[in-house]
Amino acid sequence: MKLVVTGGAGYIGSVVTSQLLDAGHEVTVVDDLSTGHADAVPQAANLIECRVHDIAPVLKGGGFDGVLHFAAKSLVGESVEKPQLYWENNVVGSYRLFEAVRDAQIPRVVFSSTAATYGEPDVSPITEDVPPRPINPYGHSKLAIDMLLSDYAKAYGFGATSLRYFNVGGARDHFGERHAVETHLIPNVLAVPAGTREKIFVFGDDYDTPDGTCIRDYLHVLDLGEAHLLALDSSEPGQHRIFNLGSGQGYSVMEVLDSARAVTGHPIPAQVKPRRAGDPTTLVASSEKAKSQLGWAPQRKLNDIVADAWAFMNL
Ligand code: UFG
Repeated sequence: MKLVVTGGAGYIGSVVTSQLLDAGHEVTVVDDLSTGHADAVPQAANLIECRVHDIAPVLKGGGFDGVLHFAAKSLVGESVEKPQLYWENNVVGSYRLFEAVRDAQIPRVVFSSTAATYGEPDVSPITEDVPPRPINPYGHSKLAIDMLLSDYAKAYGFGATSLRYFNVGGARDHFGERHAVETHLIPNVLAVPAGTREKIFVFGDDYDTPDGTCIRDYLHVLDLGEAHLLALDSSEPGQHRIFNLGSGQGYSVMEVLDSARAVTGHPIPAQVKPRRAGDPTTLVASSEKAKSQLGWAPQRKLNDIVADAWAFMNL
């Protein structure tokens, strides 16, 4: 297929672009390079430097078969401080993008949604019918776009898939996580053996979990990417589908530290700090719907995620 990938210079977008190219698709990356890196875009893709807000002329007459929309602001803390950035960048940008998709009559879209749309549900694992109740502007912005896609798919006839990612990690060779501001657990933990941090701060050990630290569902970025390819192939005109993507298994912060110690052979000193605002106790995905409807089967475990992220940091 002839595809557009927004945010293809970012972490997940660049990995999925490499998988799409391997599968024989032709890819145009649209990225404003505000947080992404031009050198993260695979050579075989065409890169157009442009905000999603201004994408219409790229799509018009381009004969594209689909759009995968990764470009977004995605820091929960920043979204609380500066919600305007999230409404303008994520919601207004996506609105303009999907208006351009409609105008250019592109038949299918795949959107990067998030576990943050669910907020703090008291059920585990989380299925797609759990009512979405986001607790921060980042989650609000992504849920607004999911709702737009539901309305647009029904009324305008294109096929749309929202993939709600849980905690993504790992890397593919030289495509990996390179955020200027790193808030995520795995890269921060690995910064200790890499020598750029002295110790890891554990945000809260008084949660209602077996070891007191938060539990998350970690998914390898390559398994995540596979779901995008399957979603593209199975898209149905006029339908909006939502799938949770996780491994179905939760790991505590302490278990992630243990995995990183095993992978790197470094003691990785840790210091417990107060809880981080807005962190739910447990977020584990039920991915049964993605398994049964997309035929998706994640292959990689926590140790693979940590090992591949570590290999990427040592390139
Ligand atoms: N954590 C630490 N120390 C750190 C970094 C994180 O203890 O230095 C803890 C957090 O408090 C949390 C867990 O590790 O308990 C995971 O934190 P991450 O920042 O790696 O990931 P989150 O679960 O906060 O974020 C993920 C996605 C977001 C999404 C959010 C929804 O990365 O995009 O889930 O809640 F919005």
